[in-house]
Amino acid sequence: MCGIVGYIGKKDINKILLDGLKELEYRGYDSAGIATMSDGEFKEYKAVGKIKNLEKKIYQTSETKNNTDKSSTGIGHTRWATHGKPTELNAHPHLGDYSYVVHNGIIENYKELKDELIQVGKKFVSQTDTEVIVHLFEYYFDKLNDSKKAFDATISRLQGAYSILLITQAQPDKIYFIKLGSPLAIATCSDGEYYIASSQSPLIGLANSVTYLEDGISGVVYENKVEFFEKNKRVTNDIKWQDLPISKLSAQKDGFRFFMEKETYEQSSVIVDTMMGRIKDDEIVFDEFDSDFLKNIDGVLISACGTSYHAGLTGSYLFERLSKIRTQVEVASEFRYKQPLLSNKTLFIAISQSGETADTIEALKMAKKAGLKTVVVCNVDNSSMTRVADVTILLRAGIEKGVASTKAFSTQVTVLWMLSLYIGKQIKTISNKLLKSEIKALRETPKYLIIDENIHQKCQRLSKRYLHGDGFFFIGRDVFYPLSLEGALKLKEISYIHAQGYPAGEMKHGPIALADEKLFTIALMPKGLLYEKTKSNVQELIARDSVVLSISPISFKLADDFIKTKDSEHYMHEFFEMLVVLQLFSMEVAIRLGNDVDMPRNLAKSVTVE
Ligand code: G6P
Repeated sequence: MCGIVGYIGKKDINKILLDGLKELEYRGYDSAGIATMSDGEFKEYKAVGKIKNLEKKIYQTSETKNNTDKSSTGIGHTRWATHGKPTELNAHPHLGDYSYVVHNGIIENYKELKDELIQVGKKFVSQTDTEVIVHLFEYYFDKLNDSKKAFDATISRLQGAYSILLITQAQPDKIYFIKLGSPLAIATCSDGEYYIASSQSPLIGLANSVTYLEDGISGVVYENKVEFFEKNKRVTNDIKWQDLPISKLSAQKDGFRFFMEKETYEQSSVIVDTMMGRIKDDEIVFDEFDSDFLKNIDGVLISACGTSYHAGLTGSYLFERLSKIRTQVEVASEFRYKQPLLSNKTLFIAISQSGETADTIEALKMAKKAGLKTVVVCNVDNSSMTRVADVTILLRAGIEKGVASTKAFSTQVTVLWMLSLYIGKQIKTISNKLLKSEIKALRETPKYLIIDENIHQKCQRLSKRYLHGDGFFFIGRDVFYPLSLEGALKLKEISYIHAQGYPAGEMKHGPIALADEKLFTIALMPKGLLYEKTKSNVQELIARDSVVLSISPISFKLADDFIKTKDSEHYMHEFFEMLVVLQLFSMEVAIRLGNDVDMPRNLAKSVTVE
């Protein structure tokens, strides 16, 4: 949630900060701002809404700076509002009398600090928790006359999870930083310039060496130098620098209208990467595990949020069916506070595209603290979760930019399917025959994710009809139930139309009361799993005038509309093919409504607050 950038060097600072913010915009786009210091002069620009509004403002009033021999210092931020509305006053950077701060995360004790600072005469202009940081810094600087000491004193007072950048006129050639529970990376290049960002994408192409800070590391960036501290002690040896990828190509749209569309189309090839090296002959291989890691495991507990939770639910069917292991799935924000009874014979699996979702991180930490073996299934290496979990299984989906998750979900389900087979083999609950036939099915899966242009065009045509009405039910049975939840979530996220996923067999226990000609039902009717049962449930809805779109390999004349999927021996192939149909369908509805598919309102790609 929110994105941070910082830069010290001689290049065009406005451009560098703006380009960096554009890379992070998908993380939050309620407002954005930058503060720069060049030639002893402070400049600040803020705008509500997307980065293009900020860009317009900057270039209306400021010249583009070509390379000069003078250095500039600057910080920038793109916001997803937590405390206070998305207004310019609440946009970062926040100014005190002579310093600016940007911040990701939450300062939990900001109310107490604010009261204290008001009593000593500090004036607040925003409703944010962030503003206390800059006033607190200046309060200490006025007392100590030393910016490093003032910064240390400030961060010692903050409670919560955050990453912070601060610049001050008191020492204009430095950026102070701290990382605690919210990601921050510092990168440099052969010119000796320093770039800072809350994720690696703004750094690619500018710098070639990066360090992803550990929690509790603070420091100061100068031109040509950076110093790191932990609890006031200088740290040098523990800071690991690594190479940054040099190409941004994979993060571009490649001619697709939206990142979501590109990412939907990529799924067939990325799951090949997900499987690469993990299927050898008739075995599933996860080099990530030590040989005895799964010894004595008698259950699996999965926790996640949003789309990742739906992947987890799908996984629970596969774990119980294929590895015969008891499996429970919990929404992370619920799990955290329910005082769960945990057994250290349970394998805990956190699922997260970003690896930064606050609730999932906490769930993972709780499980680890309770002595469970922990695994994270994640798309971002070096993310917070990968640093906590005992074992990381990377999705290898590549950067996912569309806020509505697509390829992360298909790769998550693929990993969980492989894991269910791997665990079954380790704990000796799966027969060699079943293992072999499942591996065969896995290998064939990528072709079911290749998009049939006729189906895409049909979704385009149908999107016109399915714009109106009172809302949607997506229904399915077995793994097609979590898929129906995911289909409904996709539609909600980007079209803002009410949609609900429901188990097909449960409709008659209440929701069927809503059925009439204004209720749309998207029915997932796989041939390979409970077809007749699902069909009866759909007929019950048709009898009550609901408008039905059936997605199935078997033509279903009673439905108002029908999308024909391929015939397959394995229900998971049908699962993946239907997934693509649901993603395309919701995207086409959203496009027809004129919505911003990649950056839907009120959402953020990575939610680092609880
Ligand atoms: C946000 C995103 C969702 C995502 C969820 C969990 O709400 O908008 O698309 O599914 O977070 O994110 P994670 O990175 O943990 O998978």
